Amino acid sequence: MEQSKNDLIAEINSLRTELNAVILAHYYQEPDIQDIADHVGDSLALSHKAAAAEADVIVFAGVHFMAETAKILNPDKQVLLPDLEAGCSLADGCPEDEFREFIAKYPDHKVVSYINCSASTKAMSDIICTSGNAVNVVASFPEGQPLIFAPDKHLGRWCSQQLDRELVLWDGSCEVHEQFSEQRLVDLMLAHPDAVVTAHPECTEKLLQYAHHIGSTASILDYCRDCEVQEIIVMTEPGIIHQMQKENPDKKFITVPGADETCNCNECPYMKLNTLQKLRDCMKNRAPEILVDESTRQKALIPINRMLQIKR
Ligand code: 13P
Ligand code: SF4
Repeated sequence: MEQSKNDLIAEINSLRTELNAVILAHYYQEPDIQDIADHVGDSLALSHKAAAAEADVIVFAGVHFMAETAKILNPDKQVLLPDLEAGCSLADGCPEDEFREFIAKYPDHKVVSYINCSASTKAMSDIICTSGNAVNVVASFPEGQPLIFAPDKHLGRWCSQQLDRELVLWDGSCEVHEQFSEQRLVDLMLAHPDAVVTAHPECTEKLLQYAHHIGSTASILDYCRDCEVQEIIVMTEPGIIHQMQKENPDKKFITVPGADETCNCNECPYMKLNTLQKLRDCMKNRAPEILVDESTRQKALIPINRMLQIKR
């Protein structure tokens, strides 16, 4: 028999105490998961929270690369992910062997990798970045230092434009941010002429040209809080609307649909695999657990720690 939401929440709360666990949730998680988490944040904030975690168990309500990063930072803690299938098209689109061959073609280049990649890609990188600090991470290298940026070509291109700096880009993308429809965005802008547009840098260049603000999910939330305009068109995964509406109950947030009207393609299918029930189950069963081979972990830790030293 299906349990009531209140029973599930009560069970998660008692398991959190029993396990001495901390629950971290990304803004793209369903509202109930965001509300029960100890910390809700973007990839960067959650990496800092994972690095500082004092709990014995880290429950990561997000996708695999996020939980894996938490494990790399905390080899002695148990890291749980509600659904092991919660992957990411960027991480999956950068296989270890192909990436090794790619970077071998550019021996003078340093490698900047977006955190949305596997531990083995991180282990081949000089520094990690998130969408919240990518520009500062790239700028931390001297002007003359050639750089590879992987695996998101859209975030890489956006950084390159911000800094007027050439980057060699790996050809990867986010399957969610890549499919926002230009026509439907324009229709929304016409229907809401006073609205501003805010977007995540994983979107295509064509769509980003309409945005008044571009940034990570945390930066988008800051913008929505600070902005005087009452109507905001949001071009990122709609899970973030929950926090926006909580913080700004009087503002109107409008999501941009995907090109295909028959599906909810603007929702991340991986993030949405996690449910309150699976969150409870993973704490109860202490599985699925994230494990990282020790030699890969040690190599991947170095570029992650370098990133954590960089300001946002
Ligand atoms: P943030 O860096 O904004 O958390 O984005 C993560 C992500 O997966 C975006 O699709
Ligand atoms: Fe990966 Fe895109 Fe989902 Fe973010 S929204 S986890 S980048 S597939």
